Amino acid sequence: MPMLSSLKFVIAASFALVPSTVWAQGGLPEGNGKDLVAGICTGCHQTDMITRSSGYSREHWKELIGTMIDLSPDQATQSAITQYLAEKFPPNTQRAAKTVPGPVQVAFKEWQVPTLGQRARDPVEAPDGTIWWAGQFGNLIGHLDPASGAMKEYQLPPNAKPHTITLDAKGTPWYSGNMNGTIGKVDPATGKATEYKMPDPKAKDPHTLVFDQKGIL
Ligand code: HEC
Repeated sequence: MPMLSSLKFVIAASFALVPSTVWAQGGLPEGNGKDLVAGICTGCHQTDMITRSSGYSREHWKELIGTMIDLSPDQATQSAITQYLAEKFPPNTQRAAKTVPGPVQVAFKEWQVPTLGQRARDPVEAPDGTIWWAGQFGNLIGHLDPASGAMKEYQLPPNAKPHTITLDAKGTPWYSGNMNGTIGKVDPATGKATEYKMPDPKAKDPHTLVFDQKGIL
C-alpha cells in the first residue's frame, strides 16, 4: 500500500521535526501547541487548511486529524495538538451554507469550443477572469474571454494530448503532455509551445500540475 507507507514517512519526518517539505505556517495564533501544529501539520499542506476550516470540537479534531496522521503513539503530542486546535479553532460559521428559499432559478451559460470532438476539459480561471482549457483529443489548449466570448485555440506539438493546465505566476499556461510524456508551456503572444521531456522515459501519463511557492512545477 504505497499511500500508507508514504503517510508513515511523513509521520516519521514530522516527529523528527525535520519535515521534508514544509508549507507556509502563517496564521496560527499563539498558544501552547502552536509549534507542534506548525511542525507536524505542514508536511502536506499549508496551515490555511486549519485557519479556513469550519472549526471543530476537540473530539472532532481528533477524529479529523486521525484521517491524515496517526498521532496515537505519542499521547502527549496528540493531546497538545487537539487541545490547541479545539481552543483556537472551535466550530464557526465561516463556511456555513447559505440556504436560499426555493424554488430558485439558476442560469447556465455555455460556450461551444471551436474544434469539435476535442474533449475540452479541466478549465482554469486566470487572474484576469479569462479561462484556459485543455482540448485533449484535439491536441490543443484553448483560451476563452467570457466577457466577449472570444476564443482562441493553440495547437500543441504532435501527440501531446494535454490533460490539465496550470498557470504560472505570470499567467503562462503549462500543460501536461499526457500522451507523449512531456510537460509544456505555450506563449500566448506567439502561440509557440516549449516542451520538456519527462526525465525517465518509463514515466508515462503526466497528469495534474501544481506549482509550489517557489514557482517550481
Ligand atoms: C500526510 C499528509 C497530511 C498531514 C501530515 C496532515 N494533513 Fe491535513 N489534509 C491532508 C489532505 C490530503 C487533506 C485534503 C486536502 C484537500 O482536500 O485539498 C487535508 C485536509 C485538512 C483539513 C481540511 C479538512 C476539512 O474537512 O476541513 C484540515 C482542517 C486539516 N487537513 C488539518 C490538519 C491538521 C490539524 C494536521 C496536523 C495534525 C494535518 N492536517 C496534517 C493531508 C495531511
